[in-house]
Amino acid sequence: MLTNLKAQTLVEKEVPVYTLPSLTILNNGQEIKTAKVWENKRRDEIIALLKNEMYGTMPEKPKRMAFKVFDVDSNALNGKATRKQVRVIFDKKVDSVFMDILIYIPNKSRQPVPLILGLNFAGNQEALNDPKIKITESWVAKKSKGAINNKASEASRGYSTDVFPIERMIDEGYAAATIYAGDINPDYFNLTNAVQSLYLKLQNRKDNFSTIGAWAWGLSRAMDYFEKDNQIDEKRVVLTGLSRLGKAALWAGALDQRFAIVISTESGKGGDALFKREFGESVDRIIKVFPQWFCANFNKYANNVAQMQFDQHMVLALVAPRPLYIGTAQEDLNEDPKGEFLSLKAAEPIYKLYGFKGLPINEFPKVNSPVHNEKMGFHLREGKHGITAYDWDNYFVFIKSRL
Ligand code: GCU
Repeated sequence: MLTNLKAQTLVEKEVPVYTLPSLTILNNGQEIKTAKVWENKRRDEIIALLKNEMYGTMPEKPKRMAFKVFDVDSNALNGKATRKQVRVIFDKKVDSVFMDILIYIPNKSRQPVPLILGLNFAGNQEALNDPKIKITESWVAKKSKGAINNKASEASRGYSTDVFPIERMIDEGYAAATIYAGDINPDYFNLTNAVQSLYLKLQNRKDNFSTIGAWAWGLSRAMDYFEKDNQIDEKRVVLTGLSRLGKAALWAGALDQRFAIVISTESGKGGDALFKREFGESVDRIIKVFPQWFCANFNKYANNVAQMQFDQHMVLALVAPRPLYIGTAQEDLNEDPKGEFLSLKAAEPIYKLYGFKGLPINEFPKVNSPVHNEKMGFHLREGKHGITAYDWDNYFVFIKSRL
């Protein structure tokens, strides 16, 4: 057990000097000079390191998955969209372990349509006030809107439409899909939960699992479904996520190159911010408060970031050469906005291997001044932790010319 919880630093001058592990030096000490060697060697080394030390190992794509479309309505959103609800059963033989994907497809757009995907915090029913959306029966956190004994209720319908603005996506010509993260794995520590139980049964391992890994794995299973749905263009899927769900989106986007664009909003430590820059949430705190998020090996870095041979710039670099955008907020110090920016900057060498330029700035940008190049984007908006119309305005601009 952790007894010595290191206080979080929120004072810039107290940030100690740190050195990031290199992206371009192979384990054998050689420096890589080409995208090919990155792809064939260094990428795999980094993935192995991150799996082993942080996010855990997940099973391969299951062989016996089933997709059950249990709802189709072409008159959703006053006729603007077709709603589909699809149950993904990860292993046909264990039909109690599944996730439900809620999808809206614009009726006006030429199909197959590009799609924006994001996990949600407390059930698909929160995504839109549409009485046809199935209310999740999975565990939800007590503090979720309208939760009764950790179960979602009618009161939560449409509660978080701003977080993932489905109607706006439809109006902009994109399909929208969301999945409750807790269908894949509930957000508390219990080694017999949902996908975790399936995984342990499949792999007979107990030591190297993480909930963020499970969520990321679930996002890839959604992609498996999109590949089979001919209304959706699986080559143009934008993966998004806020906070802890941004951590999962980044890890999924890092591993699964089928995702065309990755957008992370305030995913902070364990997502896009550098742990070694000891500002904001510390490893000690994240492990103590959220022991389920990372695998058991990660515990050894509590009070010990200097020993980490990895950091979050590696996760961002794995997204290269695909477009990557980070949105963050000035008052969200826990997630360390500057550490998110520096992490993106530290991922640039890999984009450069592919012949792309770095971001056009080197200093942490001013508030409300988005910055882009062909492949990377960043903004620091005013305000607190969360996601706002300003964030989405910028994401739509970024997506439009890159998808
Ligand atoms: C906490 C946690 C963060 C996380 C956030 C969220 O603030 O410390 O690491 O990103 O929750 O998911 O909302």
